[in-house]
Amino acid sequence: MKNKATGKSYAKIIWFGEHSVVYGKPAIAIPIYSVDVTATIQKITDGHQIHCRYFDGPIDELEENLLGVKTLISHLINLFGAQNVAFDLDIQSKLPAERGMGSSAATAIAIVRAFFAFFEVNLTRDQLLKLANIEEKITHGNPSGLDSATASSNMPIWFIKNEINEQIDFNLPTSSLVIADSGIKGKTSEAVSLVHNNIVDEPENAEPLIDHLGSIAETARDALATADDELLGELMNQSQHDLSRLGVSNRTLDTFCRVANDNHALGAKLTGSGLGGCVIALAKNQADAQQISTALRKAGATQTWIQSFKNYQFSTGEAHDNLVR
Ligand code: MEV
Repeated sequence: MKNKATGKSYAKIIWFGEHSVVYGKPAIAIPIYSVDVTATIQKITDGHQIHCRYFDGPIDELEENLLGVKTLISHLINLFGAQNVAFDLDIQSKLPAERGMGSSAATAIAIVRAFFAFFEVNLTRDQLLKLANIEEKITHGNPSGLDSATASSNMPIWFIKNEINEQIDFNLPTSSLVIADSGIKGKTSEAVSLVHNNIVDEPENAEPLIDHLGSIAETARDALATADDELLGELMNQSQHDLSRLGVSNRTLDTFCRVANDNHALGAKLTGSGLGGCVIALAKNQADAQQISTALRKAGATQTWIQSFKNYQFSTGEAHDNLVR
């Protein structure tokens, strides 16, 4: 066992396929390298302490809103037979919480990695995702696993629940994604049950929307590989339309999408669960991205990020950080 170890993970952005992914349709998500979580665990003389932005104190006293994290940590303590190992767990997160950037999954991934590094045990990706899911099930009810899969990846992924989780090729040399935080908490479990209720109550309306979101993701995969940013923008607008009809957008997110499109975006949509959280807009070049970002801030975005893809070499594994805040 080490005296001190760290685990890291990333924010995620779902580009295509939120909600429909829960029903077996494909999704495309990308890790955002500069927006990360680091968990550091170190030996102390007594007890199990945790420090994070919501809580500072003994792990036993973690409250209901952090039940997922508490359950994950006690599972890890049991897994390593570490009831008598005193430690301090510090979690530093650059992710805004509950904004569709996968904050809880990223936290869980970083914690699991820190524990395995601390106890000097190799961790497979499969094990990592299963363990992170302990937290996600409690926090989100019925997670597809997409958030954890992206938070633990250093590549954009193509994801089908319980089936496929693979790196995709894409080539977008000049365009950028603008990410804008509405400042409104996204409500993942509420949004997931809202969609579920719509499917149960009005299958004739909701099921075609889910199917269409799935086929959009299929088309987007080809558009990403061929650098067809105009088509990608159009697919983002179509996704927003479908998500809005499923009931998971709101007035602020709709306004952000309109403002982005009025300021030269190729397309815009909510990302993540919706009902708050973030909007993403595709910009043809850096100048447009700056204009969209400024317009979104004027429209009330609490934070914006510009993710350029210029130097990304996703297919070789050499991801360069191009995030500009
Ligand atoms: C939440 O970030 C994404 C959803 O598709 C739910 C999930 O995949 O578990 C809304």
